[in-house]
Amino acid sequence: METVSEIPALRKLVDAQRKQNASIGFVPTMGALHAGHVSLIEAARRDCDFVVVSIFVNPTQFGPSEDFEKYPRVVEQDLAQCHKAGADLVWLPTTEIMYPENFSTCVTVKTLSQVLEGKTRPDHFEGVTTVVTKLLLSCLPDVAYFGAKDYQQQAIVRRMCLDLNIPVEIKTCPIIRDTDGLALSSRNAYLSESERESALSLSRALILAEELVNAGETDLNQLKAEMQQLISSTPLLKLDYATIVDADTLEEISTPQPAMVALVAAYAGATRLIDNCPLSVD
Ligand code: PAJ
Repeated sequence: METVSEIPALRKLVDAQRKQNASIGFVPTMGALHAGHVSLIEAARRDCDFVVVSIFVNPTQFGPSEDFEKYPRVVEQDLAQCHKAGADLVWLPTTEIMYPENFSTCVTVKTLSQVLEGKTRPDHFEGVTTVVTKLLLSCLPDVAYFGAKDYQQQAIVRRMCLDLNIPVEIKTCPIIRDTDGLALSSRNAYLSESERESALSLSRALILAEELVNAGETDLNQLKAEMQQLISSTPLLKLDYATIVDADTLEEISTPQPAMVALVAAYAGATRLIDNCPLSVD
């Protein structure tokens, strides 16, 4: 496994592979890798001949009062995980490489970025879409892998690639959870023991929604209220949203439809947590 920082060096290595007809798989990350990230690298390894992972804690997607400074940075550990999961190349750009002096362009996906996470984190998705555009255009992979954990993010990235004709296939991989149901996240490291226990209410709210739908509940407003109640009544949690949306447009819905997703967000102390699950009516 090789590592590079500079974009020309990355392009040279990827080009050499492409010339040999190798398919290129790409997994963008911010590091502090856990089994969720590893599952994306493994999926890329299964599908593609050459696997590139990027590690870059992107400053522009953090709000002014968010955790950019304290975001976990454990590069040596991450490189070992990448190697074990079968990555061929790890790209570690610096902030100066990604945002050189006079950088002044941004990519915005309008409607999808304004709802859900976008309401509480107004500039977050502009930071994500700008950096993901740069990452994709620097690496030019055949396939890029994203996690369903950040449901809105993958929906926005899909829209962006379609709208901008970025010739990359986006694959979304399932959420990896701890044995107790908590969705893995680099931010879980911030949780105290009691906050972590409280955090389980997010996945429990989603399981409740799933169970109610399976039991024939069709009043989605009732479902939302039940999820909200479960989260709001949990000590140490502050509910942001618990809702059900159209899987593609992310518009809130109140009657069942074939493709819908339940999404929840809450703070456990100062830590923002999100989770989601698809719901299906048969
Ligand atoms: P990061 O939070 O490091 O996540 C990198 C990828 O791992 C994302 O696609 C995310 O959805 C996925 N992921 C995280 N936890 C997961 C889990 N429990 N199961 C499955 N996949 C999981 O998302 C970002 O970085 C950044 O916004 C990025 C796209 C790299 C742009 O800066």
